Amino acid sequence: MFKSGSTSVLLLTLLFESGNFLIMKRGFAAGRTNVTVRCPKPTSCNVDGFEKHWYKMDNYCVRYYNQPLNFSDAEFSCREKAPGAHLVSVHNKKHNEILLDIVKKFNPNNLRIWLGAFELFQSGKFLWLDGSFWDYEIWTTGEPTNIYNSKEECLEMNWKETGRWNDDACSYKKNYICAFKIPS
Ligand SMILES: *[C@@H]1O[C@H](CO)[C@@H](O)[C@H](O)[C@H]1NC(C)=O
Ligand SMILES: *[C@@H]1O[C@H](CO)[C@@H](O)[C@H](O)[C@H]1NC(C)=O
Repeated sequence: MFKSGSTSVLLLTLLFESGNFLIMKRGFAAGRTNVTVRCPKPTSCNVDGFEKHWYKMDNYCVRYYNQPLNFSDAEFSCREKAPGAHLVSVHNKKHNEILLDIVKKFNPNNLRIWLGAFELFQSGKFLWLDGSFWDYEIWTTGEPTNIYNSKEECLEMNWKETGRWNDDACSYKKNYICAFKIPS
């Protein structure tokens, strides 16, 4: 997971210009690794009523839910949390890193989460639930494995390779991140 501690620290330092760091001590699941990780402090969302628990990701507010649900229930749950909210979409590497940092902050021992995309009718093509373009992807090596069939139609992050995506069965229950666009 953290093979190259100094590289991740450097990467995170580059990604988060704010210089607003927080040192966190982590005991990893296996208990074999015991390193002190430098984590960027997510910036809280500055939308009225959503300052608590919601974090800024460019023009989105995002929030982690530690409440395993299947993919469809997770999406419906997001829709109830805020106007225009869906399971989160990811459009660039920076978004992907921010989401990973949020999951690590809240649940370092279980990083797997649903992201807001699914394969449309065995087409081999994935769509974001919020209707945004599919303009970025970062799959786990060898994934997605079950395109053109209906076994694994939903998108998750952090299965075998931290920070990367996998297609998985939509009926599995996973934690998730919701997002809504900050009204302009
Ligand atoms: C991890 O490091 C902390 C602080 O250095 C220490 O107190 C703790 O015992 C260590 N845990 C393990 C499992 O080695
Ligand atoms: C998710 O669970 C609900 C019940 O809470 C069920 O009705 C629905 O079919 C499930 N969806 C999937 C994709 O398994």
